[in-house]
Amino acid sequence: MLDLSHVVMNGRPHSPFVELGRENGYIENENLTDSELIMIVYLNGEFLEKENALISVEDRAFLFADGVYEVIRCYGGRPFRLEEHLRRLDESIRAVRIDLSDSRPIGEVAKRLIVENGLTKGDALIYIEITRGSAPRVHIFPPKGTKPTVYVGVVEFHPKHSQMENGISVILVPDIRWTRCDVKVVGLLPNVLMAQRALDEGADDAIFVRDGVAIEGTASNVFGVFGGVVVTHPKTNLTLAGVTRDVVLELCIKLGLPTREAPIMESQLSEAEELFLTSTTMEITPVVEVDGRAVGGGKPGPITRRIQKEFRELVRSSRD
Ligand code: PDD
Repeated sequence: MLDLSHVVMNGRPHSPFVELGRENGYIENENLTDSELIMIVYLNGEFLEKENALISVEDRAFLFADGVYEVIRCYGGRPFRLEEHLRRLDESIRAVRIDLSDSRPIGEVAKRLIVENGLTKGDALIYIEITRGSAPRVHIFPPKGTKPTVYVGVVEFHPKHSQMENGISVILVPDIRWTRCDVKVVGLLPNVLMAQRALDEGADDAIFVRDGVAIEGTASNVFGVFGGVVVTHPKTNLTLAGVTRDVVLELCIKLGLPTREAPIMESQLSEAEELFLTSTTMEITPVVEVDGRAVGGGKPGPITRRIQKEFRELVRSSRD
């Protein structure tokens, strides 16, 4: 159980109700760049300056990538679909059997960090990481009572507007990940390697292919439009159940667009009328080129545009 009444600020007891932030003069120099700003983060019950937030070299995430995470978007300082992200975080925690009974206060921690860091107006990202804690390196779980490491940080976010507007190119890559991609674990090396391979090959991103199926992006879900039907991979152990994916399916229903949750074969990609990726950071980003070949005439399609427009409306109404 995380108990916010015990939080301390840089070693001093700190009221959770004191509103600090850039606009309140807490961070005085407005001319500092993002990287120079004093950022406040949360680590294991304390609100600290980021540079003072230190974890052990024996942390299980450092040694074994033994941890889970979440990334949540804030629009105008408001976390978007917070409950859904926290529910998925809980599912990840339970899936990997980390001993944290109640992760709900993390939502309050995140909201407070938005204020503390003066991010109540623009775009921001909340990053949450929970690890199995710190203990001498043995593969089995650490001794009972080892406290999980709980980290929450926020950063200003700059969306890639031109990619959302003009679309991106992707390459297809083998899905070399494990078979529990539904769990949001911090072990992202295959995603890192493939995202970099895409960049090295002059593309913007990569789509993982397993057994001939286009599974998902390196950090996003994949949607295709076939005969006017909006198709995405079903929620299985092979994909992350994206929060944005669910929002898009809801928006399709609202727009009267037919949807289907079914595998998209690699061989079908060239026939797709439209293709797009969805995620907390990419929102709805059209894919206009796959492995050097144009998709849907090489420009974002009308259904993608309608969904993007509806998504913007939803975001606008959720920040009011
Ligand atoms: N990743 N699939 C994978 C493998 C992802 O890493 C993500 C998001 C998604 C989309 O999920 P959501 O719509 O809930 O953001 C799908 C985050 C953004 C990241 O790792 O930074």
